[in-house]
Formats: sequence, C-alpha cells, structure tokens
Amino acid sequence: MIRKRRTISITSGKGGVGKSSIVSNMAYMLSSMGQLTYIFDADLSLGNIDVMFGMVPKFNVRDLIEGKKHITDIVAEGPFGIKIIPATSGVAELSHLSMEERQILVSSFRELPDYDFLIVDTSAGLSSNVVYFNAISDDIFIVVTPDPASLTDSYAVIKALRGKTGQKNFNIIMNLVKDENEALEMFRKILTVADKFLDVYLDFFGYIPADGNISAATKRQKLWAEHFPRTSATAALARICDRLVM
Ligand SMILES: Nc1ncnc2c1ncn2[C@@H]1O[C@H](COP(=O)(O)OP(=O)(O)OP(=O)(O)O)[C@@H](O)[C@H]1O
Ligand SMILES: [Mg+2]
Repeated sequence: MIRKRRTISITSGKGGVGKSSIVSNMAYMLSSMGQLTYIFDADLSLGNIDVMFGMVPKFNVRDLIEGKKHITDIVAEGPFGIKIIPATSGVAELSHLSMEERQILVSSFRELPDYDFLIVDTSAGLSSNVVYFNAISDDIFIVVTPDPASLTDSYAVIKALRGKTGQKNFNIIMNLVKDENEALEMFRKILTVADKFLDVYLDFFGYIPADGNISAATKRQKLWAEHFPRTSATAALARICDRLVM
C-alpha cells in the first residue's frame, strides 16, 4: 500500500481556538478511515496532546534533540493506532530551538516508517518554532473563531507566514461558529482583507460548530469524535477529513 506521507500543520494566531482538539479528533477520524496517522506535538514546551489522550509518554522531543534517543524510540503508541511524537510539559528552552536543533528534529521525521498523515499541532502565535514547523509542512491549516481578536490575529499570521515561509496557499478552518452561514460570513471577512493586501490564496476548508459535547468530552479526556459520533461537530469534522483524504 502506498502511504501519502503528507505533513499538515494546524496553527492559529490567537491561542485557545481549538487546534489541539481538532488535531486529536482528526487523528482519530483519519485512523478510523484507515489512514496511518502521526501527531507531532509541536507546542514543544507546553504540549498537551498526551494529556488529551490520557497518556504519560516515556520519552519526548527533548530526548531526541539531546541526542539520547532515536525518533522511533520517542514515538508513543496512542489509541486506534495513532502515533504521537510527544512534547515536554514545562521545558522552557524548547520554545525557541536553534536552527540546528530544529533540523535534528525535522530530519528525524524522514526516518519514520511510512505514514499517511503527520499532523503538526503548533502553539499559537508567531514564534520562530511555529514559523519553521509551518514552513516544513505540505499544507497549512489556520484555525479561526468568530472572536474579533482571532480574526485579526489570523490575518497577521497569514501575512507573516506568507513572508517567511513562501507559502501562498492557506486553508481556513472556522471553529466555534453557530453554523455554516456564520463560518462563511467570517471567512469572507478575512478573505476581503487578504485579497486586498496580501498575495495569498485562502481556501475555506470547513468549519466546526460550537458544540457542548466537545467541552464535556474534553473535561473527561475523551475524544468527542469517538464518544459523540452523531453530534454536529463530529459530522462537520468528518467532512473535513473526507476532503483531506480525497
Ligand atoms: N467547537 C467547539 N465547541 C466547544 N468547545 C470547543 C470547540 N473547539 C474547542 N473547544 C474547547 O476549547 C478549549 C480550547 O481548545 P484547545 O486546547 O484545543 O485550543 P488550542 O488552540 O489548542 O489552545 P492553545 O493555543 O493553548 O494550544 C478546549 O476546552 C476545547 O474543548
Ligand atoms: Mg493546543
């Protein structure tokens, strides 16, 4: 079977917009579609993918960067065949890697056995790590919410990533919206400004409604897409995943 080996980053301007929630549930959904999926927890100093899966990984990126472990040693086996490249929790130095350290990390990904998707869960904002992890991704997904601060920060992130990574295409996922109409309305707001001032191509990739089942599942460290298969957010995420594997 030919695996895709596609690296996609999930990023945002403002924090707390739902990146890690989308990443972990997307990994679950892609896995259940037969896609071999890795998550790279690129919030290196304050990662929480392991927490969302209720796991305590033995090793993490620090062991790799310090040369103590090989990439295949630090990969943690999550549920449903999901593989996790864990970050640390509270190792401040890792929030700004040197160029050399970043290269160690990213070149080690080439030594991973075959996979379909490597989903990169970045931290919010525009640190040098975030810019770099977006630069090495095949596709960039920006998570935006209707919060005015999220809209303006998203514009700023697109502008900066356009300048620093050479990427021209950005996929927008609207999160925490009422419905598709609100998602499209918000998307058009960013599009109007971007079209006027930036040389970019924005694609509305999908939306996820605000859904009480998400908060309920998150508090219990459960995947909402697994535990609430018929809730509106799960149906919306399924449309996004269908488009991804298309
Ligand atoms: N569509 C939604 N409906 C309801 N709650 C949501 C939705 N999306 C995310 N949340 C909740 O929002 C909170 C923040 O989500 P999450 O931690 O995934 O954000 P993040 O972007 O990864 O944050 P950070 O920038 O700190 O990494 C979580 O409690 C999550 O359950
Ligand atoms: Mg997060």
